[in-house]
Amino acid sequence: MKPNYKDGELMMEGVKLSTVASVIGTPVYCYSRGSIEAAYRGYENAFVPLANTLICYAVKANTNQAVIGTLAALGAGADVVSEGELRRALKAGVQASKIVYSGVAKKHGEMEFALKAGIYQFNVESEPELLALSKVADRLGLTASIALRVNPDVDAKTHDKIATGKSENKFGIPWRRVRAVYRLAGSLPGIRVQGIAMHIGSQLLSLEPYRAAYGRLAEMIDALVSDGVQLDSIDIGGGLGIRYEDDQPVPPEPAELAAMAHECLGHFGGRLIIEPGRSLLGAAGVLLSEVIYVKSGESRDFIIVDAAMNDLIRPAMYDAYHGVTPLQAPSGPARNYDIVGPVCESGDTFAKARAMSEVKAGDRVAFMDTGAYGAVMAGTYNSRLLVPEVMIAGAHFGIIRPRGTYEDLIGLDSSWDEVPSVKEVREA
Ligand code: LLP
Repeated sequence: MKPNYKDGELMMEGVKLSTVASVIGTPVYCYSRGSIEAAYRGYENAFVPLANTLICYAVKANTNQAVIGTLAALGAGADVVSEGELRRALKAGVQASKIVYSGVAKKHGEMEFALKAGIYQFNVESEPELLALSKVADRLGLTASIALRVNPDVDAKTHDKIATGKSENKFGIPWRRVRAVYRLAGSLPGIRVQGIAMHIGSQLLSLEPYRAAYGRLAEMIDALVSDGVQLDSIDIGGGLGIRYEDDQPVPPEPAELAAMAHECLGHFGGRLIIEPGRSLLGAAGVLLSEVIYVKSGESRDFIIVDAAMNDLIRPAMYDAYHGVTPLQAPSGPARNYDIVGPVCESGDTFAKARAMSEVKAGDRVAFMDTGAYGAVMAGTYNSRLLVPEVMIAGAHFGIIRPRGTYEDLIGLDSSWDEVPSVKEVREA
């Protein structure tokens, strides 16, 4: 997202971000409700004309109740990967009939919870999972509607850690096993075969991997139809990238993805499911932080801010780029800085040799495009308090998650002397 300055102040909708930083303190995440809604409408306008489309927000990108609730109010379904995410989606108002449950390691208890909730679809990723689901559903006297998530062995040309559609990745049913596993699924109690699913990776900046994957998927569907399998839903996953950096390629628009899905898969009819995460939330959020010190090192200058890798792990984990911009419009000549946090690891670096106009202690900055995979991946490493979240709508802002407290941080631990129930185990 391009920084939006008005009268020298960085704005989000009608709110000066410096006001949020002053009132709430830093670090703090801020999300624009209007941007989230606009991004969702972008998908709706692109996909809904294809008829019978379900947009399932991949809640892993940002699980705050206010965020999920904003999308649920617009009619979004949800893609969840754990009982925790399923509970969050239901609590935020997503209808169970619009929820798909993905993930390679669903446990029996999680399956039971989802079956009782009456979700729309389990995306099953392996034969052992299929057998387990059949067992759980049969025991409960319920039926699990399933899609098999297939692995098309396509290179999504994204960061290795977020590519999911290659044969060496842990995801999906291996291509050569797919027809046999559908046969197995058709024979199991408690299982109703409903669809097919795929997700090849995240932060895709080109349509080509989708073209390859959808083409393979179409061939597989043809084969399954000739095997007599009836497929009512095709889940094409999420993954459209966003523009983090000016010199990166412009990512495809939802409309281009929709056109390609229509071209490759439209003739099968049935329900099309799409699971966007990053492209709904990424550009809608910023992380505000204060400069604690500016330090001149031997060979470089450091801006040390009060946000750290525990608040935003993407640079450390994926070498990800995030724009950094001051809350007061930059002035003066630019210099190169390394922008780092307080955590005691050299990996706690947000940017290297980044050109910024001169900053001083007490100035505040925004890390741009951090609405997706920011707060959700935060932790408390180095005993830092869990970062708070704020939502902005028009001229209003509200705290949607307060900053953690030292009581939260320490209070769940017990010293050995205070352990409530020490169990003695006598070895035989
Ligand atoms: N559906 C499935 C089955 C997924 O595994 C994912 C993301 C999505 C949908 C949503 O993909 P999106 O539209 O957000 O690209 N933490 C990483 C991203 C991990 C994505 C994992 N799967 C990051 O910060 O880049």
